[in-house]
Amino acid sequence: MGPEIARILIDRQTIAARVREMGRQLSADLEADLRKDGVDPASNHDRVVMMPILTGGIVFVADLMREMPLKLSMRVVTVSSYPGATTKSKGAALRGALPTDLGGRHVVVVDDILDSGHTLALIRELVLEQNPASLRLCVMLRKNVKRGEAHDVHANYVGFDIEDEFVVGYGLDYDGFYRNLPEIGVVKLGE
Ligand code: IMP
Ligand code: MG
Repeated sequence: MGPEIARILIDRQTIAARVREMGRQLSADLEADLRKDGVDPASNHDRVVMMPILTGGIVFVADLMREMPLKLSMRVVTVSSYPGATTKSKGAALRGALPTDLGGRHVVVVDDILDSGHTLALIRELVLEQNPASLRLCVMLRKNVKRGEAHDVHANYVGFDIEDEFVVGYGLDYDGFYRNLPEIGVVKLGE
């Protein structure tokens, strides 16, 4: 733990147990979709795509997909957010290209945290333009639910709801650092 970490919010065991549950749930839901499509989940299909949002989503997706005993492939997408002076002026921008072969596939977008929702709203719009068979949004953390703020998007799978604190670890960064912290911790701000 670095000097800038005030306390651990979610420990490794708790994260691992929740990720295991989420992986099982996602697999079961995807298999049900495949069967509805008339596709045997055990066959040599290429219908399921995991799509982590870089950079924050990489740790979560690495653990999550290993809890999914299902045939799947992976595409990555990079989004950077630009914090504005007000919540309304905050936004998200795509960096580089979006995969172009999502049509007809079951797409699972994976991100570290749902905060304002700008990031997931952007990706959702871009993915839906390609007419995927389905789209699921999956996040490790969700903020601000208790404040009752409307998010721009609904996440279908949420690891944990947290208070409005700045957290790091498990892929989440503070100024580019702490993504490798295996726990989720709260940053000491203003020091
Ligand atoms: P959005 O506001 O939902 O678009 O979230 C944008 C991005 O802000 C997330 O993908 C994270 O990378 C980052 N973010 C939001 N809250 C936190 C936090 O508490 N710690 C670290 N990154 C955060
Ligand atoms: Mg980030």
